[in-house]
Amino acid sequence: MNNLRPVGIIGTGKYVPEKILTNADLEKMVETNDEWIVSRTGIRERHIAAPDQATSDLCYEAAVKALASAGMTADQLDLIIIATVTPDTFFPSTACILQDKLGAKQAAAFDLSAACSGFVYGLATARNFISTGMYNNALVIGADCLSRITDYTDRNTCVLFGDGAGAVILGEVPEGRGFQSFDLGAEGAGGNLLKLEAGGSRMPSSTQTVEDKKHYIYMNGREVFKFAVRVMNTATEDVLKKAGKTKEDIDLFVPHQANIRIIQSAMERLNLSPDKCVVNVDKYANTSAASIPLALVEAAEQGRMKEGDCVLMVGFGGGLTWGASVLIW
Ligand code: ACO
Repeated sequence: MNNLRPVGIIGTGKYVPEKILTNADLEKMVETNDEWIVSRTGIRERHIAAPDQATSDLCYEAAVKALASAGMTADQLDLIIIATVTPDTFFPSTACILQDKLGAKQAAAFDLSAACSGFVYGLATARNFISTGMYNNALVIGADCLSRITDYTDRNTCVLFGDGAGAVILGEVPEGRGFQSFDLGAEGAGGNLLKLEAGGSRMPSSTQTVEDKKHYIYMNGREVFKFAVRVMNTATEDVLKKAGKTKEDIDLFVPHQANIRIIQSAMERLNLSPDKCVVNVDKYANTSAASIPLALVEAAEQGRMKEGDCVLMVGFGGGLTWGASVLIW
């Protein structure tokens, strides 16, 4: 990215709904137990949106904090990108709904769909708008209300997901800082492994689709697991190479929080000590597009990054997709 403006993160904010659903709660809903969930996934609890909360409401709370941390007001925003697979409505986009709620009158706004990789896709998109000079700043949010598309009678999926939003403001940063590289990818052939079939133009919603539970997430967990372990490794290697870095340079590893075993397998490959890896899957479960920004923002709030640290984010998700980035904090 020579001759282009360096772009980095200049503000952060996060939000999770108040209500907590524990493994003990789930034991009363489906045939499962805390031991199975913790040993197979590392998840202990997840946050669930209130009935009157939609994705844009979670985004709003995170965005207000991110704006405050950047020392900005909403009317200064040039662009809003929301990565989500659970928008408030098909249209208007959740980004447009948020633009109105924030009063970000000058901002262009759109949603982006890349499931759990969506936040990294959003960062790359916004970085390019700013580095080329088209915009000076952008609000990028990863947010999902997966509870709204989860079948709470299906133990294969309902233990895995939670709701939340993580927001960052991107802007110009000093030379040598900010995003060093991105690696985005897709394997559309694996789309059937993780999907929500009904409600689109292929299969419009009907009483039949509801009866058949096609408005809920379907996932082939074992196959997604294999894909995840594979691409976490290849994407990490590729994004480090593009940045001219090695695994020894990583100060903080921020992986998608889907399953502790997937994270541990990546840590072993990278030979990373636990203090260099952000793990909060135990508290939030898999929050899809919100997962990486929730982990990143939480690490920032805990003071785990200092200026000049090399941060590596990597995620995978429906599509199938993956996304990774190397960032100098
Ligand atoms: N409680 C108790 N038993 C369960 C539960 C549960 N909640 N869920 C499944 N089981 C059972 C299964 O029925 C199966 O029983 P069987 O052998 O009699 O059929 C057994 O446990 C083992 O099932 P596996 O699928 O082999 O379990 P595995 O160790 O693979 O773990 C899991 C399953 C946790 C889903 C894992 O495969 C995984 O994490 N996959 C990746 C998921 C992921 O990362 N998805 C990201 C996508 S998110 C997005 O984009 C929205």
